[in-house]
Amino acid sequence: MFNIFKKNASQTIEHDVVPEHIAIIMDGNGRWAKNRKMPRVKGHYEGMQTVKRITTHASQIGVKYLTLYAFSTENWSRPKEEVNYLMKLPVDFLASFLPDLMKNNVKVESIGFIEQLPEHTKEALYKVQRETENNTGMKLIFALNYGGRKEIVAAVQLLAAAYKNNEIQLDDIDEERVGQALFTRDYPDPELLIRTSGEKRLSNFMLWQTSYSEFVFDEKLWPDYAPEDLDHAIHTYCKRQRRFGGLNG
Ligand code: IPE
Ligand code: IPE
Ligand code: MG
Repeated sequence: MFNIFKKNASQTIEHDVVPEHIAIIMDGNGRWAKNRKMPRVKGHYEGMQTVKRITTHASQIGVKYLTLYAFSTENWSRPKEEVNYLMKLPVDFLASFLPDLMKNNVKVESIGFIEQLPEHTKEALYKVQRETENNTGMKLIFALNYGGRKEIVAAVQLLAAAYKNNEIQLDDIDEERVGQALFTRDYPDPELLIRTSGEKRLSNFMLWQTSYSEFVFDEKLWPDYAPEDLDHAIHTYCKRQRRFGGLNG
């Protein structure tokens, strides 16, 4: 149980409970740069600074899993220079972020079709995953080359192969088994999903896992997103009543 509004007594809600798993669609980097007449890649660079601030804050307020949508399976269709920049970004960024991650006891993991990423991107990611693997605090999960539909297709293929090899029967395929075939098998579903930049869609993010997540949309562009905005999203989440198809108590 955390009271995350210590600074402002008028906003204090005694029972704000920080969600265990928060997932964020970090959107608006390009528009942030465009507004400043800068190249889009500058927005991606600034977006990475926001990743640092939000990760540190989330780990300090007691979030257990923070999943960040960093690159979708559809983002390959962007101009080559932008894709190249995005694939290089983890190389510098993750190295400079490592001291903070160690200090905050954060463990980096990833979901998505990681093997298909360029060698240097994969290496940077695997390196930070190795370096932080014994950390016991928040899990920071980068969704990289991630697509919800392709994830489900891969799960169906896995289950079909297991059936064909007589490892499972048809009746064994239930929600639990499907969940175990997804990239997110080790994580609880996110209670809270945040999307920045005013867009109100999932863009192929965690289609299965967000079936009962609360969605909070923020108009701010990702490079401008601040720790207080995360607190505000959690506060909004805490005021919602989750019913899971049932009735109010
Ligand atoms: C989100 O920002 C980052 C990625 C998708 C990699 P965008 O690059 O989508 O920014 P906008 O939506 O064009 O402003
Ligand atoms: C979603 O943002 C993907 C990431 C944030 C990584 P997009 O900017 O790619 O989504 P659309 O194209 O607006 O739906
Ligand atoms: Mg976008």
